[in-house]
Amino acid sequence: MNYYFITGTSRGIGQALAERALQVENAQVIGFSRQQSIDHERYTHHNIDLAQVSDLGKLIDPVFTQLTDAKRIVLINNAGTLGDVKYFGSIADEKIDQLFSLNITAPAILMNHFIRAYEAEEAERIIINISSGVSQYPVDGWSGYCASKAALDMLSEVAALELEKQNVENFRVYSVAPGIVDTQMQTDIRETDEQNFSRLQKFKDYKANGALDNPQQTAEKYFYLINHPKKFQRVRQDVREF
Ligand SMILES: NC(=O)c1ccc[n+]([C@@H]2O[C@H](COP(=O)([O-])OP(=O)(O)OC[C@H]3O[C@@H](n4cnc5c(N)ncnc54)[C@H](OP(=O)(O)O)[C@@H]3O)[C@@H](O)[C@H]2O)c1
Repeated sequence: MNYYFITGTSRGIGQALAERALQVENAQVIGFSRQQSIDHERYTHHNIDLAQVSDLGKLIDPVFTQLTDAKRIVLINNAGTLGDVKYFGSIADEKIDQLFSLNITAPAILMNHFIRAYEAEEAERIIINISSGVSQYPVDGWSGYCASKAALDMLSEVAALELEKQNVENFRVYSVAPGIVDTQMQTDIRETDEQNFSRLQKFKDYKANGALDNPQQTAEKYFYLINHPKKFQRVRQDVREF
């Protein structure tokens, strides 16, 4: 049996990943988001606000149950937010807190509990954190977003190093940028104010020129990695290079 734990499954990339996972024979898919949009006999949904991090560990432990029949267990930290697109000096403090809670603290807690629960399993285990190209360079108006994705890359690097130091085999950790994908997040980007985000026109052009990938194509690329981990040795990956 294959098990896929995926955050942010109510729309966009996360929904496409969950629907792609359901195509795997007998796979069980466990999704987390504040709304539910998938209804399937092998899909279990947890209505949860992942930005409420204080009780997250307690809520998640009963979900990461022992899986004696597992051949592959996958955690995909996909849920994320762009946050308040503003320059420093104008950002709402609670939005800063919410962004880092959702984009960094929640994935770190899920990784912590997932590794604790499945470190000793024989099954193939994979953690994929959904990063972004902007983890590598600054974008004005996106301070929290860029910083949180850079931190997610480093969380992934450290987790992979620790598993290697402990000689844990058959357990891979990746931080994978998805490219530019036609989701609500891209709609939100196009609705921001140019004075808070100088690259606005570029993003409007991507949409107008049909340069966005669709979430299903993107999910397929993530599954190429999941199905061929030996081909992907580095922790940081970008689906545009696959
Ligand atoms: N789209 C792109 O071009 C692009 C590019 C680079 C990286 N990414 C990354 O890819 C990932 C998915 O992005 P997307 O474009 O699919 O975004 P999206 O369309 O905005 O979907 C975000 C998902 O995250 C969930 N979510 C948001 N806040 C949450 C919360 N507080 N608690 C639980 N779930 C929450 C949403 O569900 P609910 O609202 O139901 O909670 C939704 O299912 C993100 O990490 C994003 O940073 C996207």
